[in-house]
Amino acid sequence: MLLLLLRRAGISGLQQASRFRSTARLCIRACSADDSFPSQHPSLTSSEGNSGSKGWRVMGTLLGLGAVLAYQEHRCRAAQESPPLYTREEVSSHNSPKTGIWVTLGHEVFDVTEFLDLHPGGPSKLMLAAGGPLEPFWALYAVHNQPHIREVLAQYKIGELNPKEKAPPTSETSDPYAGDPLRHPALKVNSQRPFNAEPPLELLTESYITPNPLFFTRNHLPVPHLDPDTYRLHVVGPPGRKSLSLSLDDLYQFPKHEVTVTVQCAGNRRSEMSKVKEVKGLEWRTGAISTARWAGARLCDVLAQAGHRLSESEAHVCFVGLDSDPTGTSYGASIPLAHALDPEAEVLLAYEMNGQPLPRDHGFPLRVVVPGVVGARHVKWLGKVSVEPEESCSHWQRRDYKGFSPSVDWDTVDFDSAPSIQELPIQSAITEPQDGETIEAGEVTVKGYAWSGGGRAVIRVDVSLDGGLTWQVAELDGEKQRPRKAWAWRLWQLQAPVPAGQKELNIICKAVDDSYNVQPDTVAPIWNLRGVLSNAWHRVHVRVTP
Ligand code: MTE
Repeated sequence: MLLLLLRRAGISGLQQASRFRSTARLCIRACSADDSFPSQHPSLTSSEGNSGSKGWRVMGTLLGLGAVLAYQEHRCRAAQESPPLYTREEVSSHNSPKTGIWVTLGHEVFDVTEFLDLHPGGPSKLMLAAGGPLEPFWALYAVHNQPHIREVLAQYKIGELNPKEKAPPTSETSDPYAGDPLRHPALKVNSQRPFNAEPPLELLTESYITPNPLFFTRNHLPVPHLDPDTYRLHVVGPPGRKSLSLSLDDLYQFPKHEVTVTVQCAGNRRSEMSKVKEVKGLEWRTGAISTARWAGARLCDVLAQAGHRLSESEAHVCFVGLDSDPTGTSYGASIPLAHALDPEAEVLLAYEMNGQPLPRDHGFPLRVVVPGVVGARHVKWLGKVSVEPEESCSHWQRRDYKGFSPSVDWDTVDFDSAPSIQELPIQSAITEPQDGETIEAGEVTVKGYAWSGGGRAVIRVDVSLDGGLTWQVAELDGEKQRPRKAWAWRLWQLQAPVPAGQKELNIICKAVDDSYNVQPDTVAPIWNLRGVLSNAWHRVHVRVTP
């Protein structure tokens, strides 16, 4: 055993990293001499796979020998004096169980491969940080930032980041996206420029309110840099009335209204449509949907102050964003005036998201939030509001975000023939387990989300474990929904026994809203060339270990 210890502690032939890690562990054991440590960390010691920890405990006894302790102290000092140095690139190449899983915290580098299966939140959550810094994850899940967790981590230290290494290169100034904000590394990026990303499924339904850094992002253009001190919202008045030019302070004077709203992109789950036949658009999986508590002025109050009344029921409120392409074209969209003026519709000019000023990716300093309506109408970086006899002329109102028959292709499509999408249909998806996963026999927990547009409440989610032959009703979580104002999703879960001898499960979910709308069973009949409104039953195939 002692020989093994000495070998692990530094006999030649071992890699520098593992030598340093072994030494770091010895330092902790030898210096703490405190046997209560393992009991504080059952996850580190109870696992069968952690034979190393058990070994260390036995070794601890053997290490009573003064000579060995002296040897350790020497090693500790040596290790502390000259830890191996790594570049960020080296760290990022260790991002799978095959290569080893390295992470950083501050300037320290850790090899957490052995800890993967011991991570209390499950291996998949730790894998989100593989090859990169832990800080963005610890910022979200503050429970990590505690001395005893740092102590656990210290056991896996293999070295430090090379102090000579330059900060990550900044983008070129000629790049229109150079000023885009930094994003959370856990986001699954569908396109970098413009930035489009969704939260990983492991985290999507972890909490009812999506943390701001994980909220899905759908940008068509570079993120504009807007100065909150000079920012003005231009609200065009009716004929004969002056327009308003509102600063953020002016907007704060309107009664502050708060509401929890789920935002979903029309292209959510497009990747399932493209499996049927090619579609144009980003390959969104099930994460182009998120929920936040929004706060701001009600659009109806601002429109009333500008002098707008419901005179023409056919009129539209048009929004223009301050993001633009090199030709000066800005993002724009519109909603019906009747909807905008209805106080019960709770349309917001939001300046806060989950109690914080809007993050830059989500429209800082002001955006529109239209509860129950497709994300495309929630215009970010809002610059101008006007009331027009027609819908917004924007490409994204007239030539995009519309649904068509599966028979329509790019040669035959007539965008003017279809209404622009406003309210979205009933939707649900499974977030756990994930497609292709292997689960253990016994009991399965199925989790997911369900939401419907137009304020329609989700009244039920049905789950099948056998491809739709039999169904069970899931338990709904989340805020109580107000009639006709169910703006936010319901999270749901089902715990069910896995039928004995079952080698695989075909799990399906489908939701029902309070108008008894239900999702269609397959994708093909709702396929459309833009891959929007993809809301068929969600299906996940998993294997079962005997
Ligand atoms: N507003 C502006 N100004 N520019 C945009 O690209 N994208 C729209 C909408 N508002 C967009 C915008 C689309 S298509 C969606 S789905 C939502 O913003 C996404 O909002 P989020 O990025 O905050 O999730």
